[in-house]
Amino acid sequence: MNLKIALLAGDGIGPEVIDQAVKVSDAVARKYGHQITWMPALTGAAAIDDCGEPYPLSTHEVCLQADAVLFGAIGHPKYDNDPSAKVRPEQGLLKMRKQLGLFANVRPTFTFPSLIDKSPLKRERIEGTDLVFLRELTGGIYFGDKGRTDGGNTAYDHCVYTREEVQRLAKKGFELAMQRSKKLCCVDKANVLETSRLWRETVQAMEKDYPEVTVSYEFVDAVAMRLVQWPNSYDVLITENLFGDILTDEASVISGSMGLMPSASIGLKTSLFEPIHGSYPQAAGKDIANPLATVLSAAMMFEDAFQLKTEAQAIRDVVNKSLAEGIVTEDLSDGGKSYKTSEVGDWLAAHV
Ligand code: IPM
Ligand code: MN
Repeated sequence: MNLKIALLAGDGIGPEVIDQAVKVSDAVARKYGHQITWMPALTGAAAIDDCGEPYPLSTHEVCLQADAVLFGAIGHPKYDNDPSAKVRPEQGLLKMRKQLGLFANVRPTFTFPSLIDKSPLKRERIEGTDLVFLRELTGGIYFGDKGRTDGGNTAYDHCVYTREEVQRLAKKGFELAMQRSKKLCCVDKANVLETSRLWRETVQAMEKDYPEVTVSYEFVDAVAMRLVQWPNSYDVLITENLFGDILTDEASVISGSMGLMPSASIGLKTSLFEPIHGSYPQAAGKDIANPLATVLSAAMMFEDAFQLKTEAQAIRDVVNKSLAEGIVTEDLSDGGKSYKTSEVGDWLAAHV
């Protein structure tokens, strides 16, 4: 198969972790007789430096021509402490999500048997955890009207959802639940927010189309608590954009390191695959970041974008092998022997 993949390394540790995912993907392609054409393009602070735009049209065109997008991370500290910056790298990510119509962000949380004791949570709480968040990604407070009034002394961000936006996300949730344990949790704040009441009402109306799926409705604050208390009581969770952003960072703690969890963003056009972690600027250029979340995002890409399940499993297997043999970056080494980002990537590629 010929696979055309847009390669958006982005900022911070993005380029380093992306390099490892490329090595591993190329190794898998060689082994199974595929041809990958990588199509690099700029995003984030790197793109602002180049042309003043965090998601330039030229990059969007590359994404549209590709069969899938592999994405690193976006964000740069020089913008974080400057609230007056007119252009910010993160705007590129939001624009990319919107323009590619990536309305569903699939974020799994699972544990690795060899890392169970790396989690700050007790083994008996987290063993067997295997859940998936479907985070709505192109609506809500991220994209509503925002601004200042009162001479700059009052600020607002509107949270807006349409019934159709809720339906298309919830449909993915029901479908995923049908492929898994037929349990779906709708996370909202319907005791306070009108948008949440629309979510709940819309999902309730869809229940009749999926009679086999058991749906629970839980408030986001309670989920935040139960997620670390009894994570394995959840399976598929659907939620709006901001709640999903917060809960998926929280959930990543269960697996032991934020550097482990992959994600897929799917929607109307080309799908995008990216680690859930950010650009981790403190580690940029040091060759210490954990590349596994990005490598596992490449596995999701083989499976979801190209229907290449064996290839995806080959990547997951070699990742498990590296963890079992202690070929890990310093976030997972407990002060013991650790490997550089690039060494982990080389090892994975050699052992595919
Ligand atoms: C994520 C990130 C982004 C988000 C930021 C970088 C805009 O935190 O992908 O979760 O909030 O969606
Ligand atoms: Mn986030």
